[in-house]
Parts: sequence; C-alpha cells; structure tokens
Amino acid sequence: MDKFVVRGGNPLVGTIRVSGAKNSALPCMAAAILTEDEVTLENIPQVQDIETERKLLASMGAEVELGYGRAQHRTTISCKTLSDPVAKYEIVKTMRASSLVLGPLVARCGMARVAMPGGCAIGGRPIDLHLKGLEKMGAVITQEHGYLEARAERLKGAHIVFDKITVTGTEDLLMAAVLAEGESIFENCAREPEVTDLAAMLVGMGAQIEGAGTATIRIHGVQKLHGVRHRINPDRIEAGTFLVAGAITRGDLIVANCNPAHLGAVIGKLQEAGARVDILSADTVRVRADGDLKATDISTQEYPGFPTDMQAQYMALATQCEGVSQVRENIFENRFMHVQELVRMGANIAVDGRSATVRGRTELSAAAVMCSDLRASASLVLAALVANGESILDRVYHMDRGYERIEEKLRGVGAQIRRMGDIFSARETAE
Ligand code: UD1
Repeated sequence: MDKFVVRGGNPLVGTIRVSGAKNSALPCMAAAILTEDEVTLENIPQVQDIETERKLLASMGAEVELGYGRAQHRTTISCKTLSDPVAKYEIVKTMRASSLVLGPLVARCGMARVAMPGGCAIGGRPIDLHLKGLEKMGAVITQEHGYLEARAERLKGAHIVFDKITVTGTEDLLMAAVLAEGESIFENCAREPEVTDLAAMLVGMGAQIEGAGTATIRIHGVQKLHGVRHRINPDRIEAGTFLVAGAITRGDLIVANCNPAHLGAVIGKLQEAGARVDILSADTVRVRADGDLKATDISTQEYPGFPTDMQAQYMALATQCEGVSQVRENIFENRFMHVQELVRMGANIAVDGRSATVRGRTELSAAAVMCSDLRASASLVLAALVANGESILDRVYHMDRGYERIEEKLRGVGAQIRRMGDIFSARETAE
C-alpha cells in the first residue's frame, strides 16, 4: 500500500490544473449502456474509480478503451453487445457508485442484476430511492443471494417525488426514464452540476429532457439513443480542495481549468474566512491568503449549498483559523473520520453527533496518520502541508480513487510531498 510523505511549511504558489469530475464521469460512462453506438467521453480523470467502472462495463461485455496523456483523457465505450447485465459483488463492494448501472441496464436490456452495496465508511448509504423509482416505472425487483434483480420489458414514464435529494438516485432514474415509454416527471431532484452534465450528454444522444439542474426534471422517453462525443465538466471538489490548499498554506495559487460557477459556496466561505479569492476568467480562480484567517461556520447542504465532499477539507482549514468554527454535516452520518487523525496532529476538535466544534488556531505537528476515505485523505494532506515536520499518510489508495496524481500536482506548486511504495507489497506483487 502506497503512502504519502509530506513535509509541511511551504506556501503553495503557482498554477495548478483541475481534472475532469469523477462524479460526472461515472454516470456518463454508465449512460453509454443506453446505446448500441460508440460513445466518446473527453476530460476523463485518471483515477481508480474510473478504472473500476471500466472493469464493470467490460465485465458485462462492453468494449471500453481508456486513453490518457496524448489521447487527452478520452474514453471510448461501445456497448453494442451486453451479454451479461450483471454488476458483480467484487466490483460493487469497491465502488458504491456501481449502482448507477441499474437504471440504464433495465432500460436497455430489460433486466439487471446488481450486487447490493454493503455498509460503507461514511454511513449506511442505501439505494432504496433508486429501487422505489424503478418500481414506479414498472420494474419488478427481487432480492436473492445478495443481489438485486430488476426486470421490465419496457419501463413506463412515471411521476416520482424523491423523498430525499439523492445525486446518483436522480442520475440513475434519469437514465432509466430516457428510454421509457411516455413522460416522466421527477420532483425534488438533485441539482448538482454532475446531474446537469449527465443530462447534457443524454440530450446529445437524442434524449428529451427539460429542467436538469432544477428540482423538477421532465423527460419524454424515446425509442432509441445514438452515440455522442461529450466533454466532462471540471471537478468542482478537486478545485475546492486546491482553493483550500492555497488558503491554508497562506499561498498564492491559481486554480486553472475549473468552473468557478460551480464553486460559489466554497469561494464564499473562503472569502468569509478572510482569504482573497478572485475569479480571473471563466475557468480560472486565484486564491491568496496571508496573515490571519478567521473562523467561519459551515453546514453541508445539497447543491448549491456547501458540499459534503468539501467538509473534511474545510475542517483542516478551520484548525488554522482564529476562533471557533462549527462544522455541521447534514448529508451523511458518520462523516467525521478525519477528526481523530486531525486531533492526533494537534487539532482541537470536539464532535457531538453531526456537529464538530473546531477551536483554532492550533499548531499542527506532523504525525503518521491513516486515510479512511476519499475526502478524509484530502483533509489530511491539507493538514500535513502546514504541520511542523514530516507526516506519513497511510492508505492513500483512498485518495487515488478520486484525485488524479495529486502529489505531482501539489509538488508543481511548491509542496513537499512524495509517494512511497510499500516495498513489501511490491515484492508480493512481483512474485
Ligand atoms: C453522491 C456523490 C458523493 C457525494 C454525495 C452527496 C457520486 C458518485 N457520489 O453520492 O461524492 O458525497 O452525492 O453530495 O456522485 N439516500 C437514501 N436513499 C437512497 C439514496 C440516498 O436514503 O436511495 C441518502 C443517503 O444515505 C444520504 C443522502 O441520501 O444521506 C444523499 O445521498 P446521495 O445524494 O444519494 O449520495 P450519492 O449519490 O451516493
């Protein structure tokens, strides 16, 4: 297992580029299931979750080519034949977003078998709303041997009001509805840019969708969809992580290739804390901080509110702000696993249910810490960038799920961070 070795103390200065959004790329890859034609996706991030989705689609009989570097992070997917519409447990257990294939598989193949995702580090994360929606569209769902099976000769349009706002739930049912018979109206939909990105791709494939990006989406089902070439949005969470990196290190960072319009809540909070954030162009933001930053409260909400995927990173920043910050996590239970590691580095944080109180500013001292999930890892990297001494972050495979070559990108703007392969596991692999 790889580790990161990070020596804190350097302000980050220079330009850092954001990759494509993993959380847009995952549903867009799943959407390729909806057509027999070839689909080309550009700006695909080179991260482990994308490789997992490639495996998932390939295991069903799809041809998936991932091209990086000169191929401009492009993937070409052909789902001409889907001989085995099954998402196997071995893959689903490593990536819960695998349930995104459920809707498109039923829509295209009339059936899907998807392993039930088990528990996960950041709470229960059920998919009951995906299933309820599919049932409303006429699918018959059964459960056996840890697998869900959904069947429908042709799905029918339905009026669905989501009990709770769900991002992948909205995406999954959107992909089901585009090939359903008749009209669907979805209410209380997720408004995340990733939903809008997927809808744009589907419209490019011939789908009829109105209202994506708002709470109400109307879909007029069509018989067939065709191939498309689609460019994935920049990753707003990676961009937000870099903005915090600039502020926490009291640096001067230009975050390029992002979409500032998707970063409103994060930029607002950074400004409230006293960082200087300037939108330089439609795809570039500059963040500067020197001297004291002050404590600000955050409360995670669905988009356009403050993203839960930025909560851990913001908490690292709060340890370096003067005063008391309240951090409230409203989306997921149990999403404070970074806290105990931050405390081990010297942070003063008390958790009470879904709220954490961060008292700053505390000096952080380097330590050996353990990454527990994707965004918790990012929080620990940020803390290590300002800690005294050399931190060792274990289990960076969590980070590799969603951040493309983060150590190289951070090194490019002055961070002292390197990856250390585990010689023992390397030896095991070699044998
Ligand atoms: C997506 C993102 C994830 C982000 C999250 C919230 C992807 C691949 N992942 O996850 O990075 O943290 O949105 O912005 O896009 N819920 C139910 N029943 C369901 C579905 C969800 O109760 O059927 C609950 C969840 O437990 C959670 C809340 O709804 O409390 C929001 O979850 P959801 O928006 O579905 O998260 P994901 O789509 O899994």
